[in-house]
Amino acid sequence: MCGIVGYIGKDNATRALISGLYRLEYRGYDSAGIALLTKDNIFLKKVAGRVSELDNAIRDRVPDASIGIAHTRWATHGVPNDINAHPHTDCEKRFAVVHNGIIENYRTLKKFLEKKGHRFETDTDTEVIPHLIEEFYDNDLMSAVKKACSYFKGTYGLAIISLANPDCLVVTRMGSPLVIGKGKDEYIVASDLAAIISYTDKVIYLNDGDVAEIHPDRLRIESREFGPVAPEIERVTLSLEQIERGGYKHFMLKEIYEQPVILRDTIRGRLNYEEGIARLHGIANYIEKLRDAERIIIIACGTSWHAGLIGEYMIESLAEIPVEVEYSSEFRYRRPVLKKGTICIVVSQSGETADTLAALREAKRHGATVLGICNVVGSSIARETDAGIYIHAGPEIGVASTKAFMAQIMTFALLSLLLGRLRRLPVDEGRDIINAIRRIPDQIQSLLEELPGQIKELARTFKDHRNFLYLGRGYNFPVALEGALKLKEISYIHAEGYPAAEMKHGPIALIDKNMPVVVIAIKDAIYDKVISNIEEIRTRQGIVIAVGSEGDSQLKKNVDHIIYVPKTLDHLYPLLTILPLQLLAYYIADFRGLDVDKPRNLAKSVTVE
Ligand code: G6P
Repeated sequence: MCGIVGYIGKDNATRALISGLYRLEYRGYDSAGIALLTKDNIFLKKVAGRVSELDNAIRDRVPDASIGIAHTRWATHGVPNDINAHPHTDCEKRFAVVHNGIIENYRTLKKFLEKKGHRFETDTDTEVIPHLIEEFYDNDLMSAVKKACSYFKGTYGLAIISLANPDCLVVTRMGSPLVIGKGKDEYIVASDLAAIISYTDKVIYLNDGDVAEIHPDRLRIESREFGPVAPEIERVTLSLEQIERGGYKHFMLKEIYEQPVILRDTIRGRLNYEEGIARLHGIANYIEKLRDAERIIIIACGTSWHAGLIGEYMIESLAEIPVEVEYSSEFRYRRPVLKKGTICIVVSQSGETADTLAALREAKRHGATVLGICNVVGSSIARETDAGIYIHAGPEIGVASTKAFMAQIMTFALLSLLLGRLRRLPVDEGRDIINAIRRIPDQIQSLLEELPGQIKELARTFKDHRNFLYLGRGYNFPVALEGALKLKEISYIHAEGYPAAEMKHGPIALIDKNMPVVVIAIKDAIYDKVISNIEEIRTRQGIVIAVGSEGDSQLKKNVDHIIYVPKTLDHLYPLLTILPLQLLAYYIADFRGLDVDKPRNLAKSVTVE
């Protein structure tokens, strides 16, 4: 949510900043801006709209500069227009700041600054930052930034340039991500690695409360609390190929097609057939605690929350440990009862979701052990949890999560197998599960070859419908939620996911001959019940699009459209049933001519609460 990038070095700063912004655009895309340090002033350009609009506006019209900062915005305070776009400056335009996060006490600070004569031009919370720096500046940018930060309540990742200190760039963070890339006589800083890896694979992850003063050939980091910090340089393995579209029309489609490969990565080295068990080295030191847990609380937002629900069903049925699933935003603001024996598992693709990070900290404050299931290596959540499991889905750029969801479900399949085996499952059952898990990537591969033609047809038929209902039961109830979420996120069609039997308690009133109802009706333990639910829809003339198990010819007779998926174990079906729903949402949005990868109002990584 909001992408910031900064550059200092020998190269042309504009090039580094604009290409960085394009790579970060998935974090927010309602306005963009750039500030460059020239000999006499700070060159500033800000526009409402996409990065391409900023790019066009400055092409051939920028001064040469080797220091600068830039921003792509997802508006929180102040409508997305030219003025509210970042960077923001002080009264004399001597300081420019880009910010990701929210300064919650900005109204108080603004009043304080206005009394001191500062003049404000925007409706943003961010504008207090350059003014406060201006207020405290005494020939040392880093000191002024440190002092200003001590007044902020909220979250921030900041990059700051100053006319008075033309040889350095200052960055700091609290609750919002910030990575520093170290090149040869140059540094590029950004909200995430995507903007950095074409420059260097050497990075330094800044910790909350750290401030860095960066010169082309050196940097100095200080913790506001503890004083000087020795920079720890890490090497990253991310490749450019992984963050490019590679011939696909959209990142979302590319990521859907990557699913067989990433699932192989998720399970690689983690299955032990001999013992019928999974091995998860990241949480090796916590296995006994988990095995003996009296209760597990899974905490997440959005799609990760849906994966958590599937995790709940898996762990409860395979390991018989009571599990609850909480929205991070709810968990953090109530009084959770975390008795000894409760373990929290936070799930996050980005590892930066503000509410999940805050919930993690809240759980730790209560003394709970907190484990993570994360995708982004080195992310804040990955670093702050006691231990964790990486899902190995690779960078996910499409705003609508697909491959990360699959990898999260697979991770829960591994975790539930491990806990199940440690608590109650016999080795043979563990081996059956391993066999079924190993087949999943190939089964998805075949579906990716077979389904698109049929699903495109369905998408053409239904693209102009205004409402959809998605139903499922058991393990496939969260899949119904996720299918509905995918559709509404990228096609702006209203869709609701429901447990199939709950339909009778409300949504059934919506059903008429115009209502498409997607029903997951695979041959699992509650198949017959779902068939009754389908009857209830048909009696009211609803249009049934069923996702059924291969070979179920009976089902075909009772529905309007059917999409088959291959057979697997009950608890692994979500890995197969979600695929047609992802494709359906994708093709409907594409046929509607929408920007699938950058749906309106959304952002990939929600770093504000
Ligand atoms: C945003 C994204 C979703 C994601 C959710 C949680 O809403 O658009 O795709 O599921 O945040 O993000 P996380 O990174 O914590 O999984």
